[in-house]
Amino acid sequence: MCGIVGYVGGQSALDVVLAGLKRLEYRGYDSAGVAVLADGALVASKKAGKLINLEKELVERPLPAGGTGLGHTRWATHGGPTDANAHPHLDGAGRVAVVHNGIIENFAALRAELVARGRTFASETDSEVVAHLLAESFAGCGDLAEAMRRVCRRLEGAFTLVAVHADVPDVVVGARRNSPLVVGVGEGEFFLASDVSAFIAHTRSAIELGQDQVVELRRDGVTVTDFGGAPADVRAYHVDWDASAAEKGGYDHFMLKEIAEQPKAIADTLRGRIGAGGVLTLDEVRIPPDVLREIDKVVVVACGTAFHAGMIAKYAFEQWTRLPCETELASEFRYRNPIVDARTLVIAISQSGETMDTLMALRHARERGAKVLAVCNTNGSTIPRESDAVLYTHAGPEVAVASTKAFLTQVVACCLVALYVGQVRGVAAGRGAEVREAVRELAGMPGAVEDVLRTMEPVRELARSLARKDTVLFLGRHVGYPVALEGALKLKELAYMHAEGFAAGELKHGPIALVEEGTPVVVVVPSGGGQSVVHDKVVSNIQEVRARGAWTVVIAEEGDEVVVPYADHLIRVPRTSTLLQPLVATVPLQVFACELATARGNEVDQPRNLAKSVTVE
Ligand code: M6R
Repeated sequence: MCGIVGYVGGQSALDVVLAGLKRLEYRGYDSAGVAVLADGALVASKKAGKLINLEKELVERPLPAGGTGLGHTRWATHGGPTDANAHPHLDGAGRVAVVHNGIIENFAALRAELVARGRTFASETDSEVVAHLLAESFAGCGDLAEAMRRVCRRLEGAFTLVAVHADVPDVVVGARRNSPLVVGVGEGEFFLASDVSAFIAHTRSAIELGQDQVVELRRDGVTVTDFGGAPADVRAYHVDWDASAAEKGGYDHFMLKEIAEQPKAIADTLRGRIGAGGVLTLDEVRIPPDVLREIDKVVVVACGTAFHAGMIAKYAFEQWTRLPCETELASEFRYRNPIVDARTLVIAISQSGETMDTLMALRHARERGAKVLAVCNTNGSTIPRESDAVLYTHAGPEVAVASTKAFLTQVVACCLVALYVGQVRGVAAGRGAEVREAVRELAGMPGAVEDVLRTMEPVRELARSLARKDTVLFLGRHVGYPVALEGALKLKELAYMHAEGFAAGELKHGPIALVEEGTPVVVVVPSGGGQSVVHDKVVSNIQEVRARGAWTVVIAEEGDEVVVPYADHLIRVPRTSTLLQPLVATVPLQVFACELATARGNEVDQPRNLAKSVTVE
């Protein structure tokens, strides 16, 4: 949801910023812009559409070289995706340039006030007020960091801001509230960015900025204060992956690369967490065992794909902790009066760690005294910072907007947490064999996913054959239901097709009316040796849709022969226990959606209207 880069140092700021924006384009691609300080003047260029449009513009009308600059790639909120609304925004005199991620909620009042003082606006954005306010504040104090602090004290909402001023050519300032901003520390050069991928090619040393902090970058150092000007505590850290992890590595799309990385990502989530005899050691879960023993309820909050992982977590928590567990959409939880207290464990799941709905939900829970454990992929992001504890998934950077490896590793991490809480509470003690088997099976999941990936060519062919269909329905029961929802979400966001996921038993209560002759219906058949009642119910559901003309794509485990007569197309996945089946059953649906999007000529990594990290409510 908007990507921001700032730079000061000895290199060409324009080159550094453009390369950084390329890495951040997954965050939004409605427009892009840059500003550079060169020979005491501020020069800027911006263009609607993807970064490529800006790059072409810069070839036609190059900017002079300078060592200080900033840039932005936008996901539009206030004002359409036009050149005028693209960032950076300048004050009327063209001395200040500012880029913004977030929403300034009191912008209308501030804009009215500025207009009353004679200022004219060039865009419809909420962000432009900051350029004018900064120009006025700087005129009063002559210090850009102090001007930024004064402006931030007047702003309401969520914002990451980065600004430069022509009067202080070797200074870049940034500020953050509720939106991400990290500092990259180089030799005589410093970077600011929405995430580390923007500067990872230059340095792996980073500084995490806290809430309500202002940072000033100069060629000789960095100063961080709070909005009042008091020196702030910051955490420096080393980024544990390198530039190659943020490259496509020979794949046509980041999504394909990230699908292929899933076995390794799962192995990295498990690494160091399973001890001898299957005992789990989750050292990061800093919630003391006696507090965990007092917990009487688990609530999972998340959005989108992470919510689907949370739905699977509910089954895991109920099974392995015997605690009641609810999974809630973060955006809904936030505006209820939920029954949550000091004995509630809230699990906030987020790949980015920046999703505003999830962040607000966790704050809502903490205000009520709940303990919050984040399951997160992004080191140092806001959600883990504001949680009582965090279990990082260690999946590596996920660049494609459609989440894949994040999902599988979130499921694995939630299973680890559920097994761990069960272990701490002694629930596992009575069911030692089952728990040991679950841990053993988890350890084998990288191999199982590897096996699925080896057999995906028929799935790709299937996707191509369905490219002209309008609707695809997905059915599942138990943990197969969130898998069906995830399959439908992937298809919607990538192939722009009408796709719906249903709990298979619910179909007869209305949705079955959607089925007509030839409608493709993808059914996730429960694993577990075909012995379960739920397996037989799903087989009946397949027959119900076939009787109404559906063309069935059946995902079933190896050895399940019962389903064969009812499958127009059969996708085999390795045999697993019921609870862990999502780890193998989701993979074909990811491949299916990716291939269908390609067949329909859609952009796989940057689907329309979306952004990777949703930092507005
Ligand atoms: O970063 P998060 O995991 O908090 O993101 C949550 C959702 O926005 C995300 O999973 C979204 O649904 C994906 N684009 C789906 O592929």
